[in-house]
Amino acid sequence: FKRPIFNNTLLNWYHANKRELPWRETSDPFKIWLSEVMLQQTQVITVIPYYEKFITKYESLDALADADEQALLKDWEGLGYYNRIRNFQHAVQEVQEKYDSKVPDCPEEFFKLKGVGPYIGGAVQSIAFNNALAAVDGNVLRVMSRLNRDGRDMTKASVQKDVKHFIEKDMPLEAGDFNQALMELGATICTPRTPKCVICPVKDHCEALKANEVMQYPLKKKK
Ligand code: ADE
Repeated sequence: FKRPIFNNTLLNWYHANKRELPWRETSDPFKIWLSEVMLQQTQVITVIPYYEKFITKYESLDALADADEQALLKDWEGLGYYNRIRNFQHAVQEVQEKYDSKVPDCPEEFFKLKGVGPYIGGAVQSIAFNNALAAVDGNVLRVMSRLNRDGRDMTKASVQKDVKHFIEKDMPLEAGDFNQALMELGATICTPRTPKCVICPVKDHCEALKANEVMQYPLKKKK
């Protein structure tokens, strides 16, 4: 499909319709990073109060790096996947020591940090620094499988890598907003069970919709 037209349509929709979320009010890379660590495995609605609490109690990268680990774990209670916060503290301590407490805006450096994989790396580098990287999560995989009527197994790492490259091939300058637009589309319109195709901003670009097969994507693996 025509990527530039698609890109602009999606970005325009996002700018007009994006939800007001607390991490969208900051340009502080530390806070954006914290939000993405929380959001990687936890829903937006659950994350909001935890995010608010953390940025109030640990208002800077140094504050979180210097915090007592047990206190951090206690504040994380309820979010689960505790390695996320352990790795995050380890990573911000590295930033404190190696980068004078400034989150690296160079993807290559950032990806070396503890807990930074393709999703967190892409999300933080694009949202905080507008580096042209994709941030592929479950929502984005569903959206892309439908748009491209892509019947490959979206749980496979090799397929996810390919989707990431597809998105990065024609990344608009507003990379962070574009990634968030794809996530927002998946969270609010292109939902798993009852997608709102009638009001979808990019319905004219959707191959699954054209084939009347939206509900068949992403393809479920046969057992
Ligand atoms: N899920 C993951 N990252 C997100 C973000 N920045 N905004 C909304 N939902 C998200």
